[in-house]
Amino acid sequence: MSALDDLVAAVLATPKYRAVCPDTVRRLGAAELARRSRPKAALKATKARLHQVFGAFDRALDYGRLLEELSTAHTSGDEGALRATCRAALACHASTRERLAILDRFYAEVFAVTGVPARVLDLACGLHPLAIPWMGLPREASYRACDLDGRAVAFLNRCGPLLGRDLEASHADILCSPPTGEADVAFLLKAAASLERQERGGALRVLEALRARHAVVSYPVASLGGRGKGMRENYEAGFRQMLRGRPWRVQRLPFATELAFVVTK
Ligand SMILES: C[S@@+](CC[C@H](N)C(=O)[O-])C[C@H]1O[C@@H](n2cnc3c(N)ncnc32)[C@H](O)[C@@H]1O
Repeated sequence: MSALDDLVAAVLATPKYRAVCPDTVRRLGAAELARRSRPKAALKATKARLHQVFGAFDRALDYGRLLEELSTAHTSGDEGALRATCRAALACHASTRERLAILDRFYAEVFAVTGVPARVLDLACGLHPLAIPWMGLPREASYRACDLDGRAVAFLNRCGPLLGRDLEASHADILCSPPTGEADVAFLLKAAASLERQERGGALRVLEALRARHAVVSYPVASLGGRGKGMRENYEAGFRQMLRGRPWRVQRLPFATELAFVVTK
């Protein structure tokens, strides 16, 4: 076994990072091993980077209970109950919790620009597919999601029938395996900034590889700690700089709790 194999095995053996995509651990671990001569120091640094990418979010979710609640709501046939259960689940992650206040407008405004998609990609999805009941997608729409969090992915793969849509999630690192499927709309919600921190130019690389007519790229307007001074301006400046020289059309959609851009290729 190489030093990198050892590092990956050690990280994946820890309860906190057991569910992280092994490609992510390998990618971050290789970079840290290249920087440090001592494997122990590289292991520590890899865990610290994983904490930023993965561990800083509230992952202590009871997916089994969420699934039971969704199943009960689905069996009742009551659309209101299903939405209420999805809302409660979306409230479990900061990024989707912040979207609750704008759920009724978000997809209406995005799809007014893109048209209602029949093929959706949701990159670095977190729990976002649970917002499907607000999207107004056609019954036959396909929804392909991915995230490096294996527990969220396993959970989402059981949600499709409950949400009444063809939903499939894959456990993947989009910086290692950029998605290859075609789509009408690809969501890259509140993840571009993290991709840039993981790899300079990473978000643009993913956007360039996308085989989607429209990409919806968004940024948070407040930090996890609740502070938001200047975030909107800074993220917008970084986003515009990233797209400089690309022949893509950009439509800005400033929501109260999220700054979104529709990028049309
Ligand atoms: C702030 S959350 C946003 C979740 C969701 N897109 C939303 O806005 O509701 C960032 C998500 O990106 C995922 N992520 C970060 N880097 C990733 C990568 N390289 N490949 C796949 N997923 C990634 C994390 O696991 C996390 O679920």
